Amino acid sequence: MGIDPLRSVAKEMKFMTGNIRQLLGSGHPMLDTVSKYYTQSEGKYIRPMLVLLMSQATAMTPKQSRLWARGAEDVDRPIAPATVLADSNPSSPLTAENVDNGEMLDSSVLPSQRRLAEITELIHTASLLHDDVIDDSVSRRGNDSANIAFGNKMAVLAGDFLLGRASVALARLRDPEVTELLATVIANLIEGEFMQLKNTVLDEKNPAWTDDTITYYLQKTYLKSASLISKSCRAAALLGDHSTEVVEAAYQYGKNLGLAFQLVDDMLDYTVSGVELGKPAGADLELGLATAPLLFAWKDNRELGVLVGRKFSEPGDVQKARSMVVASDGIEQTRALAQDYVDRAARAISPFPDSDAKAGLIDMIDASTRLRR
Ligand code: FPP
Ligand code: MG
Ligand code: MG
Repeated sequence: MGIDPLRSVAKEMKFMTGNIRQLLGSGHPMLDTVSKYYTQSEGKYIRPMLVLLMSQATAMTPKQSRLWARGAEDVDRPIAPATVLADSNPSSPLTAENVDNGEMLDSSVLPSQRRLAEITELIHTASLLHDDVIDDSVSRRGNDSANIAFGNKMAVLAGDFLLGRASVALARLRDPEVTELLATVIANLIEGEFMQLKNTVLDEKNPAWTDDTITYYLQKTYLKSASLISKSCRAAALLGDHSTEVVEAAYQYGKNLGLAFQLVDDMLDYTVSGVELGKPAGADLELGLATAPLLFAWKDNRELGVLVGRKFSEPGDVQKARSMVVASDGIEQTRALAQDYVDRAARAISPFPDSDAKAGLIDMIDASTRLRR
């Protein structure tokens, strides 16, 4: 029997989901509904779970006090609801009581780390709202995507609202280094998405495979997927006042896990049905995207360059590219690269003292490289 990665953070997660919904309360009923839409479906909460597990797993490693004091009292101070509309706001302000029930929650997780976990989920959900507009998605987590349910305008604005609320909660942590890290994550998400939209390494009209092809893809993957996971693991260790070595180990764990996670996601797009994914399978080629399985296939089959150049847009291109990828060892090479990152993530935290949380982090490597988003 494997370890349940949720076990050591189960109570924490229950409070976290309630807190996230409260952070998203708006007096405008429609904004309230759209903003909370993706919090109703069965998200996996991978990022907040990682922050909570990292907070617990690092709690018993050596401390290194930082030069300035963080106002713990500020973290618990109520965050006013976003609303400007009197009497119609369905949510109450965040208070110490409803953020955190000291008796029931794990004392090894600090209130600031708990709030960080919520912030990571808000940023992730904001990016999904925007991503579904950009990708013209029709479904997410087995339901209509927000752009379908409410239209592009409201989906984009709700994403912006989530970023605004995440920024308020981040500022309230009163930790400049953590604020800088998470603000950088937001910029990185957009840089990664831009790298995907406009590939500056390829001559897009006449692309040739070079050694930079995979490097560019991995850089884009770091920015789009691994930056949030790695920098929030780093921030969890910083909030715990841990040594430089522990902070760096937390970052390396998150970076390698994030890269493995996205490689597996890109691989599943070729290997798994839409029903299992909870979103249409094979979407990447339809969107004109050349991800790792195709890039590895292209290295051995330069004919694919023509299809890459026209973003699989001519009739039959998608099917042709798919069969060439399936016939190549591109999927296997992607799996092997993901495994390499998985091993690096496990090695990064191997010096941490043994604990349920450390076992949970190890299990999360396995779980999150299997699960859908
Ligand atoms: C999912 O990728 C999307 C992301 C990991 C991030 C996308 C980033 C943006 C849209 C930039 C805007 C960011 C913010 C913070 C507002 P995918 O399309 O490959 O995966 P999917 O299959 O889950 O849609
Ligand atoms: Mg998408
Ligand atoms: Mg996308």
